[in-house]
Amino acid sequence: MTRLKTLSEINKMKQAGKILAACHQEIKKRIQPGISTLEIDAFAEQFLLDHGATPEQKGYRGRVMDYPYATCASINEMVCHGFPSKEPLKEGDIVTIDMVVNLDGWLADSAWSYAVGKVSEQADNLLKDTKESLYIGIEQAKIGNRIGDISHAIQVFGESKGYGVVREFSGHGIGKHIHEAPDVPHFGKAGFGPRIKEGMVFTIEPMLNLGTAHCYVEDDGWQAKTFDGKWSAQYEHTIAITKDGPMILTDQDHL
Ligand code: MF3
Ligand code: CO
Repeated sequence: MTRLKTLSEINKMKQAGKILAACHQEIKKRIQPGISTLEIDAFAEQFLLDHGATPEQKGYRGRVMDYPYATCASINEMVCHGFPSKEPLKEGDIVTIDMVVNLDGWLADSAWSYAVGKVSEQADNLLKDTKESLYIGIEQAKIGNRIGDISHAIQVFGESKGYGVVREFSGHGIGKHIHEAPDVPHFGKAGFGPRIKEGMVFTIEPMLNLGTAHCYVEDDGWQAKTFDGKWSAQYEHTIAITKDGPMILTDQDHL
């Protein structure tokens, strides 16, 4: 069951999204060779607390163990849900920081991939193309379309550029809970799936891989890596469906 949100609920989620976007902007300033993802995690958690919010991922229920950190930090061949570590980031790495912010019970979710210092041209293209695939998906998020229109647009774009488009993880409805209906896969058929309605709030969060689309999850039940060890990037926004089209609640460009 998809829980539609009122305008006032969407506004609360937008407040959470603003804090999340501002946190990403601060993280961007701090990402450089030598910093560890545990240091970034500590910074992000404090940033949220200083803004009256809390990190919703910490303690989130998992199959093997509950998620132990405020952020997910996925380096290079890690696809998603990487644990922050004390290992310093190296020049040329790429790292995805993913966070869910809780402000007064309402959530926003956004992941962003960052280059560490100067990265290869191939990695740089992966970052640009993955971000573009997110916005191509968002364009399809309008009243009357179906979820499959989003899925299909992302898949076609990603595969046309030769990437593996990850299928094991999807976008999701979000509100007072991290994962609500509907599921928003990043592959599928145009014209299929739930109809997109005013008041829906969900994430779109494509992961594109330089090699195979296939991933495996480590024994901890969280950390997902590409099967072939090639690198992966991810960008995620939380969006609300309004009469005027998709509204990005985690927008970083117009704060
Ligand atoms: N932002 C993450 C996602 O969309 C949230 C996953 S739950 C967590 O997949 F516990 F890993 F945080
Ligand atoms: Co998400």
